[in-house]
Amino acid sequence: MNDQGCQVLVTGANRGIGLEFVRQYAGDGCLVIACCRDPLKAAVLNTLAASSGGKVSVHALDVSDFSQIERLASELKDQAIDLLINNAGFYPHGSFASTDYDEWQKAFLINTMAPLRMVEAFVEHVAASRLRKIVTLSSKMGSITDNDSGGSYPYRTSKAAVNMVMKNLAIQLKPRGIATCTLHPGWVKTDMGGANALINVQQSVTGMRTVIDRLSTDNAGRFIAYDGQEIPW
Ligand SMILES: NC(=O)c1ccc[n+]([C@@H]2O[C@H](COP(=O)([O-])OP(=O)(O)OC[C@H]3O[C@@H](n4cnc5c(N)ncnc54)[C@H](OP(=O)(O)O)[C@@H]3O)[C@@H](O)[C@H]2O)c1
Repeated sequence: MNDQGCQVLVTGANRGIGLEFVRQYAGDGCLVIACCRDPLKAAVLNTLAASSGGKVSVHALDVSDFSQIERLASELKDQAIDLLINNAGFYPHGSFASTDYDEWQKAFLINTMAPLRMVEAFVEHVAASRLRKIVTLSSKMGSITDNDSGGSYPYRTSKAAVNMVMKNLAIQLKPRGIATCTLHPGWVKTDMGGANALINVQQSVTGMRTVIDRLSTDNAGRFIAYDGQEIPW
């Protein structure tokens, strides 16, 4: 999306994949609404914003607090958003027989429910834009077909469930000209992906941006990896 002036909103923008989305879209001339839980601690994002010539604005947003989502949507009510990126994610640890059910609820709140709440809150902003796209970062670990190693019950289920959320949205928002899809970023070297991951954030985000460029209401509702491959549900 090499469009000067397009407006992009990113959640979880202070580190990892979210920060790289901000860097790349702002670098290509987009205006970026960069959301993070605690702007006072977002040193790298703040530096990026300060040197962006006004292209990056930083906003406080904990996506698990729906009143914050509603407040931000209201503050930005006159702004069209071409691309909404639900990137914020949480990986709870624990395995069979040591499942932390509180962490599981938190995973559902952040990974599954918050993306839908974001879309409900920002759908008019997106509908008012030119490009009208919404994507959510899921994970191949949410694919039931691809699961051949088991484990990670809270994370896998929260991502499998958000896949259904996004498929639903593709159907329901198509009449409004809004295209949605679910993305797998690859196994990426971030705090979540760890040092042994296969690709870096630049490769992941560059690939996902190509997928987003090609996204339209005609091919919406799919689960696509950063390299363009379609992932089975
Ligand atoms: N890295 C991988 O290999 C990989 C693979 C598959 C899918 N993914 C998905 O890709 C997305 C980004 O992952 P990542 O690797 O960049 O993860 P990361 O390095 O752990 O960063 C996670 C981001 O989400 C934010 N976040 C967590 N809870 C939040 C909340 N309640 N409200 C707002 N922001 C919140 C974090 O903010 P704080 O700094 O405030 O905690 C941080 O900015 C996630 O959805 C993840 O599940 C990643």
